[in-house]
Amino acid sequence: MKISIIGSGYVGLVTGACLAEIGHSVTCMDINKKRIINLKKGILPIFEPQLENLVLKNIKNKNLNFTHTYTSITEQTIFFICVDTPNNNQNRPDLKNLFSVISSLGDIIKKDSVVVLKSTVPLGTNQEVHKRLVKKISKKKLKITVVSNPEFLREGSAVNDFMRPERIIIGTDSVKARDILKSIYKPLCRKSDKIIYMSTNSAELTKYSANAFLATKISFVNEIAEIAELVGADMHEVRKGIGSDSRIGKDFLYAGLGYGGSCFPKDLKALSYFQKVNGLKSSIILATQERNHHNVSSFVKKINLSFKEPKATSLLVWGSSFKPDTDDIRESLAIEVIKSLSKKFKKIYVYDPEASKNTREFFHDFTNVAFVKNKYNQISNCAGLVICTEWKEFWNPDYKKLSFLKERIILDGRNILNRQDVEKNNFIYKGIGT
Ligand code: UDX
Repeated sequence: MKISIIGSGYVGLVTGACLAEIGHSVTCMDINKKRIINLKKGILPIFEPQLENLVLKNIKNKNLNFTHTYTSITEQTIFFICVDTPNNNQNRPDLKNLFSVISSLGDIIKKDSVVVLKSTVPLGTNQEVHKRLVKKISKKKLKITVVSNPEFLREGSAVNDFMRPERIIIGTDSVKARDILKSIYKPLCRKSDKIIYMSTNSAELTKYSANAFLATKISFVNEIAEIAELVGADMHEVRKGIGSDSRIGKDFLYAGLGYGGSCFPKDLKALSYFQKVNGLKSSIILATQERNHHNVSSFVKKINLSFKEPKATSLLVWGSSFKPDTDDIRESLAIEVIKSLSKKFKKIYVYDPEASKNTREFFHDFTNVAFVKNKYNQISNCAGLVICTEWKEFWNPDYKKLSFLKERIILDGRNILNRQDVEKNNFIYKGIGT
């Protein structure tokens, strides 16, 4: 099928490349001309495992092409909207980009079309988009269907998440649009039908509540972790104990610094904003956010108390991205930790396998935050090691090299090291609830 993707950022590129990979003829559109020029040459604006290969392969076999003009997609009838919807400073999602796309689409659409919203949008937006499109094309006598098809892509495993989805949510009342979406996703539903049909409003709420629930799970375990520390319990054991109950499930029970990234924080803020403006009580969602912020201050306090003279002490920090396998530092709690430590300690040396460039730009004006190319550089100038992101390369450190740490203290903000191993090597170990 011929498909246009509007917005070639993170979600748009993954969606476009994967739809091309499963045999569709995809045109990715973006108003950012430079981005499109680069994409045509196979240069990607983001780092995401497997994505570059997929883009290059599908450019070569002509399933995937790029454009920065709407005029190149006027003959198309299926449009996936993948533009960003960042929160403005009142925590309200900013729909400026989305509505501008809708207005441009209204100008160029020539045939009956299906408009699929992948971006996470505030409740009721699909209906609003439909209203705006119908108004815009009122003279053209065309039928437009708007479908809510939220993305569930995790950074770092987005291609895999797209190709092996646990579910595909399709929100629309139109039988014709359901059939079109069903054929688009058919190659992903060979073993079992992953599609769940619902209304647009339910699809929008499904996306928000999935993210809010996952974030709540994380904040919940982090609250329990604080209790575990007090009573001398171990969160690794507690996690296994509670996760073996199928009603609770094994995933998303890892205590640590908490959640970051471009989705969870934004979606929770948007949901609590929606509750506030509609006079609804927000308790769980607010508490989840509060606990997540609290994690940073309590970890920084723990680090502070571990050293006698912080102002005369330098630290080595491993990890600044919000999670492993990404260079994304948006809403990264590691960044918050580094920021706080830089105010209290003499010097902070930071190492991250992929996010160094972004982190360096962020800390441009901080005179006591420096960056190292190798994770053991500057170790003899540091008293302790602080782990903020669970990159795989941090899980089995070389304790011989770490022994140059002046005070041999390791603060593990992601609980990835084994206490026994660390202590056997004569280091002091402090994790989260362990
Ligand atoms: C998330 C959702 O998972 C995805 O479905 C949605 O579409 C977009 O938002 P992403 O933001 O890429 O994806 O991150 P995810 O892998 O879900 O992790 C979110 C954060 O939670 C990370 O900072 C991670 O370190 C943290 N986390 C995760 C924990 O602290 N503990 C856990 O047990 C799991």
